[in-house]
Amino acid sequence: MGSGAKAPSRTRQVLPWRLDCHVAAGDDGAAADELRRGLTAARPTIPARWFYDDRGCDLFVRITGLDEYYQTRAEQRILDDHMDDVVAAHGPSELVEIGSGAARKTRAILDAMERAGSLERFVPFDISPGMLAGSAADIAAAYPGTRVHAVAGDFSRHLSRIPRRRAGMARMVAFLGGTIGNLEPARRRTMMRRLARLLGPGDCLLLGTDLAHDPQVLVRAYDDAEGVTAEFNRNIVRHINSAFAGDADPDDFAHVARWNARASRIEMHLRVRRDIQWSIAGLGIVVPVEAGATIRTEISCKFTRESVEDLYRDAGLQLASWHPDPTGRYAVSVAVPS
Ligand code: SAH
Ligand code: TRP
Repeated sequence: MGSGAKAPSRTRQVLPWRLDCHVAAGDDGAAADELRRGLTAARPTIPARWFYDDRGCDLFVRITGLDEYYQTRAEQRILDDHMDDVVAAHGPSELVEIGSGAARKTRAILDAMERAGSLERFVPFDISPGMLAGSAADIAAAYPGTRVHAVAGDFSRHLSRIPRRRAGMARMVAFLGGTIGNLEPARRRTMMRRLARLLGPGDCLLLGTDLAHDPQVLVRAYDDAEGVTAEFNRNIVRHINSAFAGDADPDDFAHVARWNARASRIEMHLRVRRDIQWSIAGLGIVVPVEAGATIRTEISCKFTRESVEDLYRDAGLQLASWHPDPTGRYAVSVAVPS
């Protein structure tokens, strides 16, 4: 495929973009409660959304360029190779992207929609208003005539704030970067059902999933030689300190990435180097952590075609097409309501 039909030759102006924000700092009691529960549990965890302050977002963009982190390049390649076919098969005129981040790979999708002459609206959704403002402005400028309506929110709670699908406009919902794998099985199923609810007849879901393969390659993707991922992991401590007046020293935490074969997932932890008392005034807690103890900050589940098909089935969806990268380490798939 390549250059398809051109957009109709009307004058296309750069349209003003819009950002709705549901994550205003300080007034999100539910997020604070969730964090407090995680930190005070018998096996402490921190919800992954706390990675993504402005510094965390910058570090994540650096991760996506690392030699070891093959996922982003694999996904980009798949989108470059297959989006014209996917767009031809499903005819979307609106793209809703969940966890859009820097929205770089997104352009491969928007370009294919533009080549097909169908692109009308882009709705990026992310927890980071800063990233959204940047990507919304860039994309509005780069795709004249396209409406950009960004929504800042937590995808576990605010998907209902996504603007309604317009009658007569087919929608594609994209959830890329393997982010579905960052959810525990129960939350993953809930998330898939919520994504399915964003779809009407004729719409489709585009899902990026990392696949199970060589554990050594997988562990290196989450523990790079340069230490960018380690810094990304430690940044979660800085973010919590600054959001809730905490006093921990990020350097007291070591980055740990390990493969859990039974659960087919990478797990990221912070291992505390010495006994600490992490006082977090804004949450009203002091968290005692003994030297050597760990706090889990992320899981990243690795899939097979069968486990992805199960996920779809459970959400009332069915696989429409499966696009692995040439190395078989990553796949993008398309699903439709069944
Ligand atoms: N899609 C991009 C970014 C993936 S990283 C890519 O493939 O490179 C995960 C993205 O999801 C980040 O941009 C992060 O800010 C966002 N995110 C993480 N937790 C979130 C949550 N609970 N709600 C909404 N967005 C979230
Ligand atoms: N969705 C990404 C993944 O699981 C998120 C990610 C990449 C990540 N590298 C990380 C999360 C390092 C925490 C730490 O691949």
